[in-house]
Amino acid sequence: MRSFAGRDILSLKDFERQEFFRVFEIAEDLEHFARDRQNTDLLKEKTLVTAFYQPSTRTRLAHEAAMIRLGGQVTGFADAKMTRAGDFYQESIKDTVKMLEFYGDVIVMRHFQQGAPHEAAKWASIPIINGGDGWGEHPTQILTDLYTVWKEKGTIDGLKWLAVGDMRMRTMHSLAYGLTQFDCPITFVAPPDMSLTKEFKDELKQYSLNYKEAEHVEQAIAEADVILVEPVVQPDYTKSRDERSGDVNLTPANYKITRELLSTKAKSDAILLHSLPRMDEIPPDVDITRWSRYWQEAFNGVVMRMALLALVLGATE
Ligand code: CP
Repeated sequence: MRSFAGRDILSLKDFERQEFFRVFEIAEDLEHFARDRQNTDLLKEKTLVTAFYQPSTRTRLAHEAAMIRLGGQVTGFADAKMTRAGDFYQESIKDTVKMLEFYGDVIVMRHFQQGAPHEAAKWASIPIINGGDGWGEHPTQILTDLYTVWKEKGTIDGLKWLAVGDMRMRTMHSLAYGLTQFDCPITFVAPPDMSLTKEFKDELKQYSLNYKEAEHVEQAIAEADVILVEPVVQPDYTKSRDERSGDVNLTPANYKITRELLSTKAKSDAILLHSLPRMDEIPPDVDITRWSRYWQEAFNGVVMRMALLALVLGATE
């Protein structure tokens, strides 16, 4: 297996099957620090730089919390408008990361342009972690989700997945790439204008992903062991910021997971994931049901980032 030390985490296309399990093992080893709300000194000599060109609650703060749990330092920006990349100069990714690499030992970047973290990785001498790039990928979120499934179900192989939402979404791309390394049939349910592109489908066929598409969650939920939901009412991920203006649409029933649907159609031991934030596709009354795992997923978001930081910074092999 390749070493993670010094490695960029840009895409789940890059991940081999054994590497998923290695990351899960490290996450499991470190999990008790997060659960017991204890900090340790594993990364006490290291600094994380956060470079967020798009809003985030979970991805940025989970990386920061993970770094602090491991005894490291954090610096960076949460709004590019306060940097030279966001003013008159529109400073390039290259020029920005050629500075940031001197301010810390690893950079986590979220950007509205697909491929921006890859561009950063070309120029930086320290690891770059992709915290979401446009409609591209969101590898650390899907590593979190796969870890959650592994912990909750004791396996990933053999489980049937249902993915509901906008298939242009970066999480969906990372999910599809990630599942190519497991024995996991998946059904995608999306509005026609947000469905899998022909180009992406061709790619998935090359990777031998066992997938099908359906029009309504009711057609696929009964056989699902894992239900992963994303919004279909959502902002434009190619913008640095997309403010809400006026009323927003409601989610059609085809793409909504309600308590009634779960009670009447879902397997009793299925688990429901959502990376959050949500709109109305999972109503709050689903939160206290035996299916919901999105708060556990949020906790695991810190644990997974602890594992990734420890690995890419060479604190563990
Ligand atoms: N799941 C996720 O990426 O959330 P944030 O946009 O809050 O980081």
